[in-house]
Amino acid sequence: MKNRMIKLGAAFALLALCAAPVQAKLAWNKKAKKFDATITACTACHVPEKPKKGDPLSERGEWLVQQKQKLGVKEVSLEWLKDYPKAGQ
Ligand code: HEC
Repeated sequence: MKNRMIKLGAAFALLALCAAPVQAKLAWNKKAKKFDATITACTACHVPEKPKKGDPLSERGEWLVQQKQKLGVKEVSLEWLKDYPKAGQ
């Protein structure tokens, strides 16, 4: 019985881990707003309203990816939005 509980716990832990990146992604709208008040929707950086993996990025999204490549880092930082040439538009 105890063993089963441990296995169940492990399964939940794994599930939480997989769900975490999706939640982090959903918070991007709110976080981005701090750096550029005009960002209110996923479409600020994505072409579709509800972007999924593999969907195209808008100009702003492409620019963020370019910065990532230029700086040679693994993750996009929303702080870069302050330097976006068309910020606030
Ligand atoms: C401030 C710009 C910005 C906003 C706002 C934003 N995204 Fe993104 N998103 C990006 C960038 C840039 C990438 C690519 C990241 C990378 O390649 O490192 C990305 C990647 C993604 C991916 C992974 C795509 C793939 O092909 O791997 C998903 C899914 C996604 N976004 C969903 C969303 C959803 C849903 C919202 C709205 C709730 C949202 N994004 C809002 C900039 C944004």
